[in-house]
Amino acid sequence: MTKKDQLYEGKAKKVFTTDNPEVLIVDYKDDATAFNGEKKGTILGKGVINNRVTNHLMKLLAKEGIPTHYVEELSERETAVKKVTIVPLEVIVRNIIAGSLAKRVGRPEGEKLAKTVLEYCYKDDALGDPIVNDYHILAMGWATREEIDLIADYSFKINDILTAYLKEVNIELIDFKLEFGKTSDGTIVLADEISPDTCRFWDSTTGEKLDKDRFRRSLGGEEEAYREILKRLLGE
Ligand code: TMP
Repeated sequence: MTKKDQLYEGKAKKVFTTDNPEVLIVDYKDDATAFNGEKKGTILGKGVINNRVTNHLMKLLAKEGIPTHYVEELSERETAVKKVTIVPLEVIVRNIIAGSLAKRVGRPEGEKLAKTVLEYCYKDDALGDPIVNDYHILAMGWATREEIDLIADYSFKINDILTAYLKEVNIELIDFKLEFGKTSDGTIVLADEISPDTCRFWDSTTGEKLDKDRFRRSLGGEEEAYREILKRLLGE
């Protein structure tokens, strides 16, 4: 399968059409941004790691019954995926208080939540991806009641699968962001990526951050952290 035209360039990936109208190719970059593109940098090797980690986790989730957009890994940085219309929501799943939730509710990072929290943000860079609720989603027509329920159901299931899986390699899944898409026949599938860019991974023993917070917060050691995730998940 080969790339035809570039359809889109995002902050971390490029997307290309192929000869198959139902299939696209994503190409992962080393570019890193934070705070809605205000902070820019490079994490060497990130594209390769995010491609490999995302595909590994997508395959694991597919085996457990979650439909995904994954088709085939083509190279270190490139993957064929089903063409979908992205539901314009970032679905955030939280097990432990961190990041924007810590700020919003004035609680310290690291506090365990009594119940898993699901949040939706409207995907719009110009607006800074504002947090919204089910009423907004229905009123704006971003998804139907049935689609929201299915997305929530999948998100909790994904959380259970990933939390258990990561625990085996001594990683605590603090929170993460998912995106879903609709295929041409209307099926909702997991899309985008699941990587250290989109999850908070803390070492279960030391609490060390092994994710993009190292870049966001200028902690240093981001390349080593991404490599550590690759090593723990794929043994490489
Ligand atoms: P937050 O605490 O900053 O809202 O982030 C929650 C989770 O979502 C965290 O695991 C990082 C991820 N995330 C993204 O994948 N993309 C984003 O643009 C942001 C802000 C967060």
